[in-house]
Amino acid sequence: MSRTAISRLHGRRVWDSRGRPTVEVQVELSGGARGRAIAPAGASRGRHEAIDLRDGGPRFDGWDVAEALRAVTGPIADAVTGMDAADQAAIDQAMIDLDGTPNKAELGGNAMIATSMAVLHAAAGAADQPLWRHVWETAGPSDTRTAPVLPLPEIQIFGGGAHAGRRVDVQDFMVIATGADDYEQALAWTAEVYIAAGKIMAERALLQGVADEGGYWPAFDTNEQAAETLIQAIETAGRKPGEEVALSLDVAASEFGQGGRYRLTRDDREIGSAELAEMLIDWVRRYAIVSIEDPMAEDDPEGFIAFARRAPTSLQIVGDDLLVTDAERVRAAHRDGACNTALIKPNQAGTVTETKAALDAAHGARMDAIVSARSGETEDVTIVHLAVGWGAKQLKVGSFSRSERMAKWNEGLRIGDALGGFALPGRSAFPWGRS
Ligand code: PGA
Ligand code: ZN
Repeated sequence: MSRTAISRLHGRRVWDSRGRPTVEVQVELSGGARGRAIAPAGASRGRHEAIDLRDGGPRFDGWDVAEALRAVTGPIADAVTGMDAADQAAIDQAMIDLDGTPNKAELGGNAMIATSMAVLHAAAGAADQPLWRHVWETAGPSDTRTAPVLPLPEIQIFGGGAHAGRRVDVQDFMVIATGADDYEQALAWTAEVYIAAGKIMAERALLQGVADEGGYWPAFDTNEQAAETLIQAIETAGRKPGEEVALSLDVAASEFGQGGRYRLTRDDREIGSAELAEMLIDWVRRYAIVSIEDPMAEDDPEGFIAFARRAPTSLQIVGDDLLVTDAERVRAAHRDGACNTALIKPNQAGTVTETKAALDAAHGARMDAIVSARSGETEDVTIVHLAVGWGAKQLKVGSFSRSERMAKWNEGLRIGDALGGFALPGRSAFPWGRS
């Protein structure tokens, strides 16, 4: 038997950043190499993403994963034991075939992504390489890849929407250090902004705690107040809004929109997609916003397209719920002109191979890609290695607090040390080559 043949799969119930159970998988190869990975969990999930298997019932409020763990040590282990861990595509395909559903409902997207990523770790271990390098060397040809660099961080400062009791409609108020020389400086500038924002919030009695992804849980009365406070925090931190540190929003509009109608809780009114587009474009002009994710709901592609037509061409428009890390959906959104950037979340797809296919579809269409964590996370840092190894230009893992977030930003620093520098993609202005 080859050294890279899978000899054992072990599933373990561990706990995520919301204190809920999740799936950890450990893969052992016949040559002794091991790999381990943990499935994350979303809260504002897209309707078409891979489904997590949850037990339901009274235990842990229904969130337990005993069934998903049984899938790992039962049918999945039976199918992949003896297979070559270096052949990621074959292993992922074996799981997809075994599952047999369009959304991983049978084996569970949580069981499948944890297994798939653990296999990747084991293969890197057998090759005696750090994960990012193994991913880089096995990623295949792509004209977007010259030499590995670090991704530009997109970092949450205020949480809202489904992550903070819907205090404001917009789910993420984030910053992107578009003027930073490198990854290290981008983190340092963001740290100053995060600290400044916390002080401003505390002084004005607007601070209610931290939201699911570590951003401040604000007591704002309007979405605009959040944007204005963020601009003030950037200035207090000594940075120029828009030039050095810009704003970025994840509107996560599927959470408050249906059938082209959008319910704004803070403003207590319902608006159509054209009015929502007008409001967002007005914010783009007023608040140095360079990127907007899910400006419209997943069931409103027409709204997306109309928004993209009206928005400034330099605006990064990101599809999350609309694309759900699916290559076909990425291609369709590009063809229709619905967005110019794909959010890439491995557990939306359910396997590493399908995640890579979605990212390749984006790069093939000259769209940018942002590798992203979920709101329910752990110490698992696989996605940072994927972002570097696959040449994704950006990384989004939540805020600048809470260790499930910081573990990932810090892993980027370690990879930078191994690369011999913290260079970001290209030297031209963000968004790369679009305006
Ligand atoms: P989720 O949200 O992980 O709760 O789905 C993250 C996002 O919308 O980007
Ligand atoms: Zn999102």
